Amino acid sequence: QRTENDKTYIGSIDQGTTSTRFLIFDNDGKLVTSHQLEFDQHYPRPGWIEHDPTDLIKSVRKCIIEAVRKFEMMGHDTSRIKTVGVTNQRETVLVWDKTTGKAIYNAIVWCDARTTTTVKKLQAKKDSDKVATLCGLPISTYFAGVKLHWLIDNVPEVRDAINEKRAMFGTVDSWLLYNLTGGKDGGVHLTDMSNASRTMFLNLKTQAWDDWLLDFFDVPAHILPKVVSSSEHYGDIAFGPLKGVPIHGCLGDQQAAMVGQKCFSQGDAKCTFGTGAFLLFNTGESHVNSKNGLLSTICYQLGPDAPVTYALEGSISVAGSAVKWLQNNLGIINSAEELGKLASQVKDTGGVYFVTALSGLFAPYWRDDARGTIVGLTNYTNKRHIARATLEAVSFSTNAIIDAMKADALVPLKILKVDGGMSNSDTGMQIQSDIIGIDVERPAMRETTALGAAFAAGLAAGIWKSTEELCHLTVNAHDTFTPKIDDKMRKKKYTEWEAAVERSYGWTQ
Ligand code: G3P
Repeated sequence: QRTENDKTYIGSIDQGTTSTRFLIFDNDGKLVTSHQLEFDQHYPRPGWIEHDPTDLIKSVRKCIIEAVRKFEMMGHDTSRIKTVGVTNQRETVLVWDKTTGKAIYNAIVWCDARTTTTVKKLQAKKDSDKVATLCGLPISTYFAGVKLHWLIDNVPEVRDAINEKRAMFGTVDSWLLYNLTGGKDGGVHLTDMSNASRTMFLNLKTQAWDDWLLDFFDVPAHILPKVVSSSEHYGDIAFGPLKGVPIHGCLGDQQAAMVGQKCFSQGDAKCTFGTGAFLLFNTGESHVNSKNGLLSTICYQLGPDAPVTYALEGSISVAGSAVKWLQNNLGIINSAEELGKLASQVKDTGGVYFVTALSGLFAPYWRDDARGTIVGLTNYTNKRHIARATLEAVSFSTNAIIDAMKADALVPLKILKVDGGMSNSDTGMQIQSDIIGIDVERPAMRETTALGAAFAAGLAAGIWKSTEELCHLTVNAHDTFTPKIDDKMRKKKYTEWEAAVERSYGWTQ
């Protein structure tokens, strides 16, 4: 047992799609305290989703102040917080002016579907097939490069700033690092490997920006951040109660959850249920190009001289956001917790399937033209069935990804590690296990995304020596959910789901 004198603490900024958090861990990887703030989502037109860039920074500042206040109230000394890690919603795009430090346009959020026409235009370009072979990603509304291309085409202020060499481009990690380290007064312009691999500009093999890809997307190299590892000294915090504390960790949130779940070996996989759901499978030091609709991505590079670890990813665009939609738009639940309770009051959905394609379908379908579709309604259907169908939708989507992984000839998953908001629902995780037909393992410590960023920071700061040491920290307790339905029933339900998916296609031009 360590005494307070042997303790050091690690801060972790988790800037997600709907909220920002700051968490403080100790050097045993235990969560000490945290603070969370939601911020406004802007929906200027159907399918468009934006964030005010200043809200992201303000919420980070406030979360740091509040969490540190709680930490001190608990009797801890702030000077023992030795380093900070950053993790973030990925693919969300910002362009800012380096002379003012201000964003030129709102952040276009990863699940924004405005770029459907841009996608068609890019897909029709000569050699568009080459894109996925270089960067591991299909041309889709999801990725940062397509959004940046749209900004350059549609926002004259962005074009002017680029022409006048005032523009800086970045995903949320870059925007946070820039602002945390001083903004226009000396802020750094960096992105880590895991975030860079979501732009469509990074060559997975060379692990550097690729001239051919930049040319394809008409993006000049001078606006891009420098690509660095996920675990090194990026700069020091320039304000607030943690002024002077170094930042040593940076990872996209899904890759951070891989680190937090200790998925360090080839074949390890986890699924995080946040706003969307993201199943990542560690493919070791080589990248696998999927033939079945999965993404190839960089998982992490834990130090500038460390090898790069890759992953295959199945991204589901809608998970928690469907729960929010039931709550805010339909009003059939008052809180996310209520969904699991409602769903547990019926033994099945009564034949209802809800394809939650509220912003198109991502992996493995990649259909920008899909829209939310509920089939199988009868006079018998009530909100409990819809609640259950919502939980099932996420599980069917996960199953589609697991099938694609099998088709890509990966070692079949024996268990699926889960985390994120929806994993708190026992009913949801039992449904998950029933539908995918394997055990689902949920850690007792579910703040794995933030923990992953803290791990990356602590490794570079010398708090921990190696990933082996992280694997021996005392945060390994978990619950296991085991399948309770037979194969015949599982197959029947999945076939019906696939028929429902077919019906969700073709609702946009
Ligand atoms: O790729 C998008 C992802 O990073 C968003 O994560 O947790 O906000 O759903 P989350």
